Amino acid sequence: MENGALNHETETASTITIKGILSLLMQNVDEKNCKRLISLGMGDPTVYSCFHTTHVAGEAVVEALQSDKFNGYSPTVGLPQTRRAIAEYLSSDLPYKLSSDDVFITSGCTQAIDVALAMLARPGANILIPRPGFPIYELCATFRRLEIRYFDLLPEKGWEVDLDLVEALADQNTVGLVIINPGNPCGSVYSYQHLKKIAETAEKLKIPVIADEVYGHLVFGDNPFVPMAVFGSIVPVLTLGSLSKRWIVPGWRLGWFVINDPSGMFKNPKIIERIKKYFDILGGPATFIQAAVPRIIEETDQVFFEKTINTLKQASDICWDLIKEITCITCPHKPQGSMAVMIKLDVSSLEDISDDIDFCFRLVKEESVIILPGTAVGLKNWLRITFAADPHSLKEALGRLKSFCKRHSKQMQQPY
Ligand SMILES: Cc1ncc(COP(=O)(O)O)c(C=O)c1O
Repeated sequence: MENGALNHETETASTITIKGILSLLMQNVDEKNCKRLISLGMGDPTVYSCFHTTHVAGEAVVEALQSDKFNGYSPTVGLPQTRRAIAEYLSSDLPYKLSSDDVFITSGCTQAIDVALAMLARPGANILIPRPGFPIYELCATFRRLEIRYFDLLPEKGWEVDLDLVEALADQNTVGLVIINPGNPCGSVYSYQHLKKIAETAEKLKIPVIADEVYGHLVFGDNPFVPMAVFGSIVPVLTLGSLSKRWIVPGWRLGWFVINDPSGMFKNPKIIERIKKYFDILGGPATFIQAAVPRIIEETDQVFFEKTINTLKQASDICWDLIKEITCITCPHKPQGSMAVMIKLDVSSLEDISDDIDFCFRLVKEESVIILPGTAVGLKNWLRITFAADPHSLKEALGRLKSFCKRHSKQMQQPY
């Protein structure tokens, strides 16, 4: 094997993934500890029974399956009726109409990320990615040999994008700017004004925005959810999404990659041909799941969405209130959406904990509570808590976190 290939493999292997670090934490659970394990590490709300999909979604899938019409391959870019349904669903929030041809069905939002990065990659190219962020971008970029340039999200400004830094980082080889809104890991929801500024900056730099909206509509603070594609006439926007979070079905693997380009700046027949070819090598979601989408979108009741939002809001309030009672951590910004919040760890106030990773490994061993070290999402000595959990588990986990911090704090260990 030539050296270049070897080096590349090493780089890829060293990229931290959330799943990887969580499985290491799981291995550290003390079997002798009689406390039940509570995980606030993974963004899979189905783990807790208070998060449940709507019955209409299940019915639609059963109907599609039992019809016996969807046991074959679907077109690689997705079933036409599924593409149309997603185009209509997304268009209802936009000042222009998407067509079915703008929508490509993917296996979850994860595959949409891969498609976006694969389509933008070329030798010598770089991509702008938020820090903290979602490590799958880093992993995909590394596999595609895309250079990663991180821009900061600013905690003191509600985790807004540092647009000055974006401008400073970009050059003629920059191929895109990634934003995640509503935000994972920060729980941020960007205002219309901030999103517009992002679009204007990208337009100035002549790069498309890759808008990860997997948490689209899951907002419960002051800012409403504004899809980035609202600014599609300013700059081309590649929207990535899925049913995973809003419909609470991450295991169904139904996602989408959408080209929002009403002015036709990005779309040219060659690009579209390339995207279609790429889809020929991907396996999308099961055909019967795709076939269920039009009914799922059409018949899901507003009440179901409101219930999920209320449950998330209640959970985020519990987090916000209880975190304030714990001395070694602070939360700079109350979550406004998604399912996660970033909290800052004051390692200097702890006696025998070296950093966020050490903190999380000790926490799971002593308290059977899993939270994600910030290092996994790009911020050392921060922690990410996923609050998509039932109130009882959340209170218990944060109570144990409090005892843990107390036990390890410097004051506690000093003789009086
Ligand atoms: C920001 C972000 N993007 C993409 C994904 C992947 O979504 P999916 O489960 O639909 O593949 C996640 C999952 O947690 C996420 O948090």
